[in-house]
Amino acid sequence: MEEIFGVIGDPIGHSMSPLIHNDAFKHHHIKGVYLPFQVKQEHLKEAVEGIKALGIKGLNVTIPHKVSIMPMLDEIDESARLIGAVNTVQNRDGKLIGYNTDGVGFYKSIKPFVQKEHSEAQVLLIGAGGAARAILTTLAKEGFVNIDLVNRTKERAQQLKELCPFQINGKIYSLEEFRHTVKIYDLIVQTTSIGMSPHVHAKPLELSGLIHEQTVVTDIIYNPLQTAFLKEAKKLGAKTVDGVGMFVHQAAQAFQLWTGIEPNVQRMKNIVYEKLR
Ligand code: ATR
Repeated sequence: MEEIFGVIGDPIGHSMSPLIHNDAFKHHHIKGVYLPFQVKQEHLKEAVEGIKALGIKGLNVTIPHKVSIMPMLDEIDESARLIGAVNTVQNRDGKLIGYNTDGVGFYKSIKPFVQKEHSEAQVLLIGAGGAARAILTTLAKEGFVNIDLVNRTKERAQQLKELCPFQINGKIYSLEEFRHTVKIYDLIVQTTSIGMSPHVHAKPLELSGLIHEQTVVTDIIYNPLQTAFLKEAKKLGAKTVDGVGMFVHQAAQAFQLWTGIEPNVQRMKNIVYEKLR
């Protein structure tokens, strides 16, 4: 019998998750099907009951349900507890367990490129939303300690630092304050929606004076693939990592949780690139 998997969110029409998971099921000879489910906020509770009633094996959870689904689940794994959000649900014999694979997905996407010792690396994190929280928590857990935060609303960056369950050093800036800063970073992470299609020319900040040739610059946006921010980073000689890396690695981690099989990440990447190019 085919097992059922899916993603719940609203909107959900543009999700590329069904494409990569269905291909992975086929490629790894698993009898599974992955579907998009558009679930409105007011129907989330019924949808969660439906997971159990219908015997759905696993789900990804996206905007706007990542936080509100937490009290509806039977168990929250440490990965989701630390980040304060769930992006993956596993149905283990009728018990729903919430995980978060966004943070580790991000970390896996940058890990091969970061040369410096984590504890020595100077990191700049741009943004203070849900994605920034998953990334900050994971970087801090992985031993990065020098992390500066910059956000349009400085108070949100302050709150983000307070929510981080691991000790970090670093300054907090508003975008305005940061304009006058000169500092060389080893890793720069862009997590805001600035530069997302259709606003493809927008950039959160100027990179000149902030990077050296080993600096890793990453943008979690993947539409467009090369944001104006990444283009500038490349022009200045930095190593760049696009947002496809985080997307496919979070998917691969979820796939592994559900099936016990480590999927082919390069295959997932190729599918996404083909779709976006
Ligand atoms: P997500 O959960 O995807 O991270 P979010 O919680 O809405 O999304 O956070 C979006 C981030 O992008 C925030 O850091 C937000 O800055 P504020 O905290 O000041 O709102 C940032 N952001 C979005 N649009 C922006 C814009 N036009 N200029 C500057 N920052 C912006």
